[in-house]
Amino acid sequence: MNLSDSERPGASREPVLNYRNITKRYGDFQALHGVSMDVFEGEVVCLIGPSGSGKSTLLRCTNALESLHSGEILLNGVALPKEERAMRAVRQRMGMVFQNFELFPHKIALDNVAIGLTTVRGMGVAQAREKAARMLDKVGLSDKLQSYPANLSGGQQQRVAIARALAMEPEVMLFDEPTSALDPETVGARGRRHDHGGCDPRNGLRAQSG
Ligand SMILES: Nc1ncnc2c1ncn2[C@@H]1O[C@H](COP(=O)(O)OP(=O)(O)OP(=O)(O)O)[C@@H](O)[C@H]1O
Ligand SMILES: [Mg+2]
Repeated sequence: MNLSDSERPGASREPVLNYRNITKRYGDFQALHGVSMDVFEGEVVCLIGPSGSGKSTLLRCTNALESLHSGEILLNGVALPKEERAMRAVRQRMGMVFQNFELFPHKIALDNVAIGLTTVRGMGVAQAREKAARMLDKVGLSDKLQSYPANLSGGQQQRVAIARALAMEPEVMLFDEPTSALDPETVGARGRRHDHGGCDPRNGLRAQSG
């Protein structure tokens, strides 16, 4: 599906995320080649490309887990801060489901979801656990609240990671292959397609015009 800018949800307003010609290098290797893109409120934008084409890199740059080589990313019209302390505050407004889930192995599913609510949002433990249980129920894991990640299937671990990100109610949600371990029945995907599929993974992700 291709929508013109005027048809895109929220397009009359400033984009929530505005990528301006961003490049990313790892030494001599260029992973991102001048990516420019807008994401408007209410939009679901999918990046599609071969393995190694830079999808995860773009997401990691979005919440400044990676620094840019050049270009800039604006969140609600404001450039992402370079200073780590300021960036930590910005990161709290963005949720991320990592490609490899990044669950705490020593915490049960319930506490993997609750921990961000208590430590970052300052919620009481009982209230955080109650919300965590509701979020885990939403992803079909109400019978696994007490399970450790090692005792969950890959898809169940992924659903814990999704529940954890959603529980924080962020302004922007970054999903890195969030359904890779899920079966099609569990997945309800929709949204606008940002197709970078024609690029060569050896050359990294390139912005497409038009
Ligand atoms: N820390 C790093 N140091 C050096 N090269 C890196 C580093 N992280 C990623 N790369 C390289 O950057 C390129 C883009 O990696 P990235 O993880 O963004 O790909 P991807 O599109 O998410 O792939 P996949 O679909 O396999 O998850 C790859 O060639 C990868 O080897
Ligand atoms: Mg990836």
